[in-house]
Amino acid sequence: MTSRTAIFSLSCRVNGLKIEREIPSSRSLLEFIREDLGLKGTKEGCGEGECGACMVLVDGLAVNSCLMMAVQLHGKELVTIEGIKGKDGGLHPLQKTFMAEGAVQCGFCTPGIIIASEALLRRKPNATLEDIKLELTGNLCRCTGYEKVLSAVEKARGK
Ligand code: FES
Ligand code: FES
Repeated sequence: MTSRTAIFSLSCRVNGLKIEREIPSSRSLLEFIREDLGLKGTKEGCGEGECGACMVLVDGLAVNSCLMMAVQLHGKELVTIEGIKGKDGGLHPLQKTFMAEGAVQCGFCTPGIIIASEALLRRKPNATLEDIKLELTGNLCRCTGYEKVLSAVEKARGK
């Protein structure tokens, strides 16, 4: 007996562009992003919702893409780290403050942390340090000790 995987016609927007793809219904959103779209800025860490390395924005909300199925993206807007830009099309304020503060070491956690921070600052532009700490509880970083990360997010507020 052979097993058959259902194919789904996915239509969505990715970093501002309309995308239509036939995908297996078993595809995770993380696999779709990295393998089908080739957007490697989204990282796979734990693969089970613990580290935040795979975080992306879906309709403006930060989600762990390893826990979401690609079919759930149908009709929605996906923003990956490649789609995070400043108003002038250059670096986003968070990217500038992370560089200025030295908040990046190996960089593996950084796309997910910037996505989580962007989600927070979109809905709460004047987020407090406590808000930032709370928002980043789902993002693990093994290198920085978090101090410079928190400082970089604080400095990006209101920019
Ligand atoms: S890879 Fe998704 S939360 Fe760790
Ligand atoms: S900079 Fe290395 S895991 Fe955060």
